[in-house]
Amino acid sequence: MVKASAPGKCILFGEHAVVYGQPALACSINQRMTIELEKEETFDTWRLDGRTFNPRKHPHIEYIRNQLSTERNEPLHIRIRGTIPKASGLGSSAALSVALCGALQQLRDESLNQAQASTISHQAEATAQGGRASPLDTATSSYGGFVVLSDTIEDGLDFIETRTMNVDGKTLQWHLHTFKASIPEDVSLVVGNTGVHGSTSAMVKQVATLIRQHPERKVELDTIGAIARRGIQALQDGNMEAVGQAMTENHIVLRSLGVSSPELERLIRAAAPSSLGVKMTGAGGGGCMIALTRRPEETVGAIEMEGGRAFITNFNEPGLVMEHIT
Ligand code: MEV
Repeated sequence: MVKASAPGKCILFGEHAVVYGQPALACSINQRMTIELEKEETFDTWRLDGRTFNPRKHPHIEYIRNQLSTERNEPLHIRIRGTIPKASGLGSSAALSVALCGALQQLRDESLNQAQASTISHQAEATAQGGRASPLDTATSSYGGFVVLSDTIEDGLDFIETRTMNVDGKTLQWHLHTFKASIPEDVSLVVGNTGVHGSTSAMVKQVATLIRQHPERKVELDTIGAIARRGIQALQDGNMEAVGQAMTENHIVLRSLGVSSPELERLIRAAAPSSLGVKMTGAGGGGCMIALTRRPEETVGAIEMEGGRAFITNFNEPGLVMEHIT
């Protein structure tokens, strides 16, 4: 048996606009997905948590299986464990894909390769998201910590690689970076979950339709890009007030794009008075919001009073790792 795990993520700046090549910043969170792989002894097919694996239901798993199958291509039993809630904007699907890549690398007697896991799982997510997916979620889950995507190679950040993909007939390019943000000890990130599921592919499609029908609305994506650039700079400068301000501004543009929801708005309104900045995170239509705060207990309490589930996450959680088998 082999075992690997990868973290979920939350996006501080730039969701949706990043699909169109705008800059964005995400960080790993302390909730993870774990994949265990075992040779299937009883059946001659792949199994997923005790059931016959259905490639049509799990196109990203099928994609990864085809990319990283073992030499003998023996049937395997995949067990998925994890604490990242599904369809909540916290990257459960990307973390699952990345952890599966890590477990298959181990089964192939290869050493852990975060770059390969990031690339293959990005392609897998794009397959599942109708061809439109940025490498943000999968790179954050693979490398951990803070990940910045930008349209240029940024000074002062650690450049990893350039990723190119064809989206809606246009060739897009993202330059991927990590960086060690030094967050003051008294600043926390709180995640609040509405409990309402949001579909990433549906929300990404909704934005694509809006831009196709109203090309002038593309200016909102450019605005998110400009806010993201300012927020990333503020984080590099250690100016947490400016980071929070940029997060709130980013949310206002996302709301105007139509990807927030009444439940998200309720949690955001509740968290705002005790926070430096608040926004939805991920694809939206439900899912989670985040708050940057110096009063985390108060922020958690305010979110829970409105019926949300809230937790405080660490910064700089590790990316893809092999787990010890106990
Ligand atoms: C989803 O977590 C983030 C989106 O920007 C989609 C993507 O980047 O592929 C909405």
